[in-house]
This record gives sequence, C-alpha cells and structure tokens, in this order.
Amino acid sequence: MSSSNNLIVNKSKPFLGKVIIPGDKSISHRSIILGSMAKGKIIITNFLKSDDCLKTISAMRSLGAKITAFNEQIMIEGIGLNNLKKPNKTIDAGNSGTLIRLLTGILSVQNFSSTITGDESLNTRPMRRIINPLVAHGAMIDSNNFKAPLKITGNTKLLPINYKQDVASAQVKSCLMLAALFIEGESKFYEDIVTRDHTENLLEYLGYDMNKSEHEISFKGCQPLIAKDINIGSDISSAAFFIVAALILKNSEIKIPNININKYRVGIITVLKKMGANISIINKRLDSNEEIGDLIIKSSHLKSLNLGGEIISTLIDELPILFIACAVSSGVSKISGIEELRYKESDRIKSMEEGLNAVGIKSTSTLDSIEINGGEILGGKINSYGDHRIAMAFSIAALISKKSITITDTKNISTSFPNFIDLMREQRADIYEL
Ligand code: S3P
Repeated sequence: MSSSNNLIVNKSKPFLGKVIIPGDKSISHRSIILGSMAKGKIIITNFLKSDDCLKTISAMRSLGAKITAFNEQIMIEGIGLNNLKKPNKTIDAGNSGTLIRLLTGILSVQNFSSTITGDESLNTRPMRRIINPLVAHGAMIDSNNFKAPLKITGNTKLLPINYKQDVASAQVKSCLMLAALFIEGESKFYEDIVTRDHTENLLEYLGYDMNKSEHEISFKGCQPLIAKDINIGSDISSAAFFIVAALILKNSEIKIPNININKYRVGIITVLKKMGANISIINKRLDSNEEIGDLIIKSSHLKSLNLGGEIISTLIDELPILFIACAVSSGVSKISGIEELRYKESDRIKSMEEGLNAVGIKSTSTLDSIEINGGEILGGKINSYGDHRIAMAFSIAALISKKSITITDTKNISTSFPNFIDLMREQRADIYEL
C-alpha cells in the first residue's frame, strides 16, 4: 500500500499473465450501506478495502451497524431499516463523493439530525444536485453555499420521490432512492440517460420489490431488506488502467478475471475496441445480480477517436485513462459532452490537459470537450492534484514514455486502488515511490 506523495515511472517491459483487480468501489459502498439496513448477518466477499469504502464502514458503524472484517471478508450484522441511531459526531466522508451523496439521502429522512463533511477536495464539489431535489420533497439541509459540510435536520415525513434526471448521475439517483426506502408510498425515478444501476440491482437482490423498465423505476418505500451474502465483482474502473497498459505496451497479453461488466459500466471496452483494441470477454455469468466476466487483452495498434453523447456516462471514470490511449494513438481525438469531469476529485479536463501538454502531447479543451493530438510521450513532471485517477493514468503513460514521468500528490491512489503500485510491480513496471 502506498502512502508516498510522489511517483516516478519509467519505460517498462510488456505486461503478461494474470492481474487480480480488487472489488468494485460503487458496489462496495452500496453493499455496506444496504447491508447495514437489512436485518441479519451478511458476508461480503471481494469488498474493496480502499480509503473511500473504509469511510463508508465507519459511517454506517456510527449509525449503529455492527461491521467486522475477517479472512479478507466483511461481516455485517444489519440492524434493519428503522433502527439507525444518531451518530455522536460529524460523519467524515473523506474524499468520497459517493458516500456523502448516498448517505445524505438516508440522513435526510431520519428522526435525528446529523452533519456530514469531507476532505478539502470533497468540500469543494457540488452538492446542489442532491440538496435541491431532497429539499423539494421536504428535506432540511443547511450547506456552505451548496457545498459540504451538510447539516441535516432529519424529517421522517418526506413526500414520495418523483425524480426526473437533471444531471446524468448515479450518485444523485441513488441518493434519492435511498431516501425513498424510508418514505411511505410509491417513489418514481426517471432517467433520460441511464446511469449505473448498482443500487437498484442490490435492492432487488436483497428482496426489494420494484417495477423496472429501461428508463423508469418505481417502488414502494418501507419494505424490509432481506439479509443475503454478497459477492462483489472486480472494478472495471481500476481494471481500465491495466487494460490500457497491456494495449499500449508492445507484446503484452494479460488476463483480468472476475470483472463486473454491468452494461452501464462497459463503455470503456466498447470504445477501446472501436479504436482497434484486441479485448475479449469470456465466461460471462451472473453473481449477486450483477454481470461478471473475464477479460483477455493483447497489445494493439490504436486509432484516434471521436466521441460524445450517451456513452459518456458509461465510461465517466475511465476518461482520464482513455485520454492516455488517445495520446498514443495515431491521429487527433476529440471527446465532447464531458463537462461532468470538471466536478470530480479534481477538474479532470484541466488536470489531464495540463499533464498531457507537460509530457509532450498537444491537447486543448473547452468547457465540455478535449482535443488530443496523438504522438510520442516524451516524459516530464505532472501534478495529479491529489486525484487518484489522474495519478494512475499518468503512471500508465510513463510505461511507454521516452524519459521518466514524475507524478506529484499521488497519495489518494489509495482511495480507490490501494494495491495499484504492488500490481504494477508484479508486472515488472519500473515504478518508484518518493
Ligand atoms: C458513482 C457514480 C459516478 C462516478 C463515481 C461513482 C457511483 O459519479 O463518477 O466514481 O458509485 O454512483 P456521478 O454520479 O457523479 O456521475
């Protein structure tokens, strides 16, 4: 596990063999949150023990759930829907947008008040997107000009949720769905652009009755959640770094088993294939109501890309590493409709544009797009702005860079992928922590 602030990565040998990626971050959060509100014992396998997900464990413990780790698994003794207790201090969501947004939905509808906050980066991120719809249904939330800390005065009498997507965000949809679990009557959720549906899938898995069509879901609140063990597939967003590494490092061939291939998460594979990537998915199967598969990736010659529209939400977290694939492909790539990237752990359009230019790849941006001129990565020094995915994206770029790349402010890699550096070393990557 890395606790260093800076990385230096040099040109490296091909990636070969098997890469075991840790559990999916989105599902890990949801398994703890929903598992805590089921009644009975749940064993979670392949839980992601990253900083973000460990914060979710602390948060649910502070609300009364009993959660223990044993033999690489997590055990929850769920307390049921109506037994959450007032936390005795401010809940700390750390760097996690998913935790703060999902939990605020639950806290809004309790019979107690609470406060939730985050680190410096999280407290600059937009919360208006959850505050407005929650308040419109009766929630009482004080904020720092629509940013965290959020002071929530619980109100058990929220109106049934009627959600029409304003911004394509699974966190917003899930926030409102979690509030709706506590509200009598039927809540409805409509999305023009369907976002990741892990909350819905896990609710269904835990016995929740709902009506589902492609764009709309409705369910009645106050149903019990049934305790059932949960196996979590590995995270495609983390796998994406190794997928791109194997594609761009000549003579590579890797297998990445047990990846969650939920249809709202696999955009990165669809798009890389369009660029000419040799990726196959084998052994497709269902586990804990999510689709899982094994990936085989062989080095490939990549062509440039012109991308925009609905597919963006299915690869939103993979855009930084996709930009690296564009940087080493032949031709000019243009990716548009990506303004949401500006509101992530850093302004990812700015962080990537600055970093790409610093290592010799000409790129320019507008508010919601980036243009990248494919070429040779020359090396240099880049600032990751404390953003895990920017740090990992440039670590992969460095594997084929003429000279080394130094990446600063990389500690937060542990928020999503604590053993990233170990797995890079297992693949003989020339990587040093400073
Ligand atoms: C997530 C949804 C996405 C994603 C984030 C995880 C989730 O955020 O970027 O890393 O678990 O629901 P948005 O809902 O802001 O798009």
